[in-house]
Amino acid sequence: MSNMKHSEWWKDSVVYQIYPQSFQDSNGDGIGDLQGIISRLPYLEKLGVDVLWLNPIYKSPLVDNGYDIADYYDIDSRYGTLDDFKELLEQVHKHHMRLIMDLVVNHTSDQNYWFQESKKSKNNDYSDFYIWKDPKSDGSAPNNWGSTFTDSAWEYVPERNQYYLHLFAKEQPDLNWENPEVRKSIYKMMRYWFDLGIDGFRMDVISLLSKLQDFPNAPDDLPLHKNYYYGSSNGPREHEFLQEMYQEVFSKYDVMTVGEAANTNSDQAILYTDPQRNELNMLFQFDHMHLDYGKYGKFSDVRFKLSDLRRVMTDWQDKLVDGWNSLYWSNHDQPRPVTRFGNEKKYRVQSAKMLGTLLHMMKGTPYIYQGEELGLTNVNFESLDDYQDIETKKIIAEMREAGERKEYIEKVCYLKSRDNARTPFPWNNQKNNGFTTGIPWLNVPNYNPVTNALDAIEDKDSVLHYYQNLISLRKKYQVVVDGSYSNFNSDDSDVYGYTRANATEQLVVICSFSNEKVNYEIPSDLQGGELILSNYDRVNLHLGNKIVLRPYEAAVYYRRSK
Ligand code: GLC
Ligand code: CA
Repeated sequence: MSNMKHSEWWKDSVVYQIYPQSFQDSNGDGIGDLQGIISRLPYLEKLGVDVLWLNPIYKSPLVDNGYDIADYYDIDSRYGTLDDFKELLEQVHKHHMRLIMDLVVNHTSDQNYWFQESKKSKNNDYSDFYIWKDPKSDGSAPNNWGSTFTDSAWEYVPERNQYYLHLFAKEQPDLNWENPEVRKSIYKMMRYWFDLGIDGFRMDVISLLSKLQDFPNAPDDLPLHKNYYYGSSNGPREHEFLQEMYQEVFSKYDVMTVGEAANTNSDQAILYTDPQRNELNMLFQFDHMHLDYGKYGKFSDVRFKLSDLRRVMTDWQDKLVDGWNSLYWSNHDQPRPVTRFGNEKKYRVQSAKMLGTLLHMMKGTPYIYQGEELGLTNVNFESLDDYQDIETKKIIAEMREAGERKEYIEKVCYLKSRDNARTPFPWNNQKNNGFTTGIPWLNVPNYNPVTNALDAIEDKDSVLHYYQNLISLRKKYQVVVDGSYSNFNSDDSDVYGYTRANATEQLVVICSFSNEKVNYEIPSDLQGGELILSNYDRVNLHLGNKIVLRPYEAAVYYRRSK
């Protein structure tokens, strides 16, 4: 078998994530679709992104918005047909971009043919495709694992007098990766999409594939919704499975891979991403997403601390030297970064630009989630009943039961619900912001986005133009791609500063997280570069060694070393 190493084009790429349901509707049914995406490719090409990642568009009952796949080989009719998909792929390539799909193989939908067969009996071709266990002697579930979206992670099926495992909704049964037939079927399906010409996969909850085979109880003190991590994250055969996948699939194509890796630290990440090991190109890590968690996990009103953010970002930058980082502030599971890490009111534009600078100048592949390039904020849902996301609904029920005040529940949903990022993309200020002529599938009464793409295109100071600029700097200066990272102010409570350096070039990146002006002293050995980017009109306000940084100011200096 050939095992050629391909070019590492993903190292100098910027990825743009499209949430297909909410990007652009083309036929007035209120649901974004593939023809809608095709019509917006010029916008994306102009922005300068290299790769488009689509959230799942396969046939699905949408219990978890497509992360429950009923048919791996077909496009859901809400989005279009397989021919629409082929047209999209061709058009993306014509517009000089690449396309990656979401790969969801920890679990399927319960509507998937494999599961429909599997649940019928203990002796059919698919009986061992899922994780079935006998009840305990008292009839209860095999162990104490909880699931992300329900209480127990086990669901009983009378036909088999057994329970099946689902780490997510009960409509999302976990596949049994121990079964070689499962793995073969998955690899075959992956080759099918690569043979159609796609350029890679974003791999859903990939760190959960290998479960401890004795399915031990998790310690009682772990939170129920995530206690399954104990027996299923970074499990015993995880790397073996991925290396097999690499041999069977990835090694044959020039593609990129990014794995979503819950409960995985930077040391474990090296195992996934070290190119010598032939597994994945990069991971989505969660350490920076956990900095503002509270007693209900993500749904909290705690604010992150800059010192923590700097510590975890630096840890990942320092650790993944042979491996590679993916860089992100948000995605379809996270709220809007300007609300979470910036100032969504007074300094919305400045802080959105600053956050973009901090991330895009780091080492790794940056991901932009749709609307982030406009500096969109979280969304005011008038009523808790308007949320549609399964995770949000679950937490609302749980908090109500725990007797939390309505105002508190509203507040944490505003701050953290996944629906904040799933609202229709605002293209202009016409009806439904140009997203649809019908009624949007996620209909937020009085939705009034802070801006829209058309206004941003016309405003030369918009976040959009700044992002365009950020992307172009990556193409212009090699050091943005390959420079090594070094944090130079590990103890400042307002400012995050770091350098990037290769043999001939150096970048100095300075980002303020303060709502006030602050004096900042650039270390003397780092002074004197050329200012190549700033989110204010900076005219080198030097005060001796000090510069005055305005609220959320970001500045990037560049110099060639002698
Ligand atoms: C990932 C997806 C999320 C989904 C979950 C289960 O975390 O990003 O949207 O709910 O996996 O598939
Ligand atoms: Ca549609």
